[in-house]
Amino acid sequence: MTNTAVAVIGLGMMGQALAAAFVNAAYPTTVWNRTPGKAERLVEMGASQAPTVADAVEAAPLVIVCVRDYDAVRESLAPAEAHLSGKVLVNLTSGASDEARAMAGWAAERGAGYLDGAIMMTPPGIGAPETVILYGGSPQLYETHEKILAVLGGGTLLLSDDVGIPSLYDVALLGIMWSTFNGFMHAAALLNTEKIAATDFLPFAKDWLTGVASFLTTYANQIDAGDYAASDATLETQLPPLLHLLHESRIRGIDATMHEYTKTLLDEAIANGHALDSYARIIEHFRTPAA
Ligand SMILES: NC(=O)c1ccc[n+]([C@@H]2O[C@H](COP(=O)([O-])OP(=O)(O)OC[C@H]3O[C@@H](n4cnc5c(N)ncnc54)[C@H](OP(=O)(O)O)[C@@H]3O)[C@@H](O)[C@H]2O)c1
Repeated sequence: MTNTAVAVIGLGMMGQALAAAFVNAAYPTTVWNRTPGKAERLVEMGASQAPTVADAVEAAPLVIVCVRDYDAVRESLAPAEAHLSGKVLVNLTSGASDEARAMAGWAAERGAGYLDGAIMMTPPGIGAPETVILYGGSPQLYETHEKILAVLGGGTLLLSDDVGIPSLYDVALLGIMWSTFNGFMHAAALLNTEKIAATDFLPFAKDWLTGVASFLTTYANQIDAGDYAASDATLETQLPPLLHLLHESRIRGIDATMHEYTKTLLDEAIANGHALDSYARIIEHFRTPAA
């Protein structure tokens, strides 16, 4: 059996990694990019370069698009609109859930099937067994293309038949990533004031993150149950160590705005009578609509 042909639209860092994974797995791969000059390495590997985006779409039943944002998806595919009927469009561009849902409608109006994917990895990890790519869309469409999509990452899975859900997971996970990054940067800056290298601190930070991840299991169960009774540490117990962190930051001249925000969350919950609850109670702050 010959492998399905695939077209990759967008040859930025991520698009090039996606196309290379298909070529390496012996899928006939046609590539296109708005700005010329980004396909050379892929062509040397065995990909075909389409002269226009319409030619790329014509070349394969499965069209992968990975460009900067959803506006760029529409812009890049505009000249190929008449060629999309009967194709399956797999959009691996990052975006928000409403954009993914609108894009599914856009594809349906042009007669194309649509899957939306969120890549939870950087380009060098494309194709690795641990790489997670989250998909939303029709289970039947996903199953039909599961084998080729799995070429991009061993952790490929269909999350939902709703195309918006992968983007929602994506932004939620990125939020965890940036708040963790900021926590680490602040900690490393604190330690640097004593000339302690970030790399010396790193093993402690990594072990600590493993412990913190285990606390999340408790909190997730409490959030889902709506029962915040503390089984580890109360909010009241967490306040003094937080004040120590703010004090330590102040005397060393390290910006602690992010941790001052945590203090506002604790103060609010305690003022509302939840001093003896666990940290999971803070979910109620985020659930309250912003003013
Ligand atoms: N890199 C990562 O680690 C990573 C991880 C997960 C998800 N992603 C997502 O993957 C997508 C691509 O990221 P990347 O790292 O490949 O970015 P990149 O290296 O900056 O490449 C951007 C790509 O988008 C194209 N593009 C931008 N505006 C366009 C337009 N108006 N019309 C047509 N094409 C347009 C660019 O074409 P030109 O060459 O013509 O400018 C290029 O192919 C983004 O949505 C990103 O969030 C990236």
